[in-house]
Amino acid sequence: MTVHGVFLLPAEASREAIHVDQLFYGIVAASALVAALVAGLIGWFCWHYRAGNPVKRKPLPKMLEREIEITWTLGTAFAFLALFWWASTLNLIRLTAPAHAMDVRVIAKQWMWKFEQPSGVREINQLHLPIDTPIQLLMTSQDVIHSFYVPAFREKQDILPDRETRVWFTPDKLGTYELKCAEYCGALHSLMKGQVIVMSKADYARWVDKMKSGSLEQQGAALFRKQGCSSCHGNESNDKGPTLLGIYASTIELKDGRKLLVNDTYIRTAITSPATQQAKGWQDRMPAFDTLSDHQIAALVAYIKTLSRSEEMSR
Ligand code: CUA
Repeated sequence: MTVHGVFLLPAEASREAIHVDQLFYGIVAASALVAALVAGLIGWFCWHYRAGNPVKRKPLPKMLEREIEITWTLGTAFAFLALFWWASTLNLIRLTAPAHAMDVRVIAKQWMWKFEQPSGVREINQLHLPIDTPIQLLMTSQDVIHSFYVPAFREKQDILPDRETRVWFTPDKLGTYELKCAEYCGALHSLMKGQVIVMSKADYARWVDKMKSGSLEQQGAALFRKQGCSSCHGNESNDKGPTLLGIYASTIELKDGRKLLVNDTYIRTAITSPATQQAKGWQDRMPAFDTLSDHQIAALVAYIKTLSRSEEMSR
């Protein structure tokens, strides 16, 4: 039972979300009740004891005074202890994931999300998950503090460098949901976004198969776009960078006068430390992609090799 229209809450897309929302509405209701009671009493006292109104103004009998004091103190104490018990029970349940939960590794860094599925499939800024399966995220940061936040799952957990934090939830609605970083982590914090894609179990299994069987070139092509290589190295050279079409096996003249053959080693170095072999006529603009794994670099090299045979980049 929810009233999204009134409170403008995002969709509830996990089994846990409904409990968080119920707690939220419970606290809002309790606060509204207390506020109404206090405001009502203030209004009533103002009117009842207005100047000139002939009412009794003597103190209450000592006995009654004490009873009222004890009643409202204990009453509110119990009411708010009940809220505390409600909220902390929800938190305690969330501490330990079910034993059969699916573990996904999450690495946060300025400014992207990296995921590693149990199947070994890796993703950047996208997380594909099967529906109705408890998911446990094992998260760490490569630099500063970030925070994993998926409003539709009512899930938020800080991610710290050199430490592992965990969170678990059970997606129960198909769809694509926003992932945000909820801890200010530097200049591009607001752009540290991603998507969680909840799929049916069959679709998810197919997706995993497809991702695993993708050839090295295909993985490289995907990586070429995901890592943003394609924004500078497009079909044609632009002021940001040269096109890579036909570059493999050609000879390149460097700023320092050396002439190098573009082979696997050259491309690998160009990715991991571009400044060391700056091509003549180009500015040193490219950041070093030294956090890529060997496998990722191999995939990129494989893809760039294919560009020597094709007329256009794949899309
Ligand atoms: Cu990462 Cu904010």
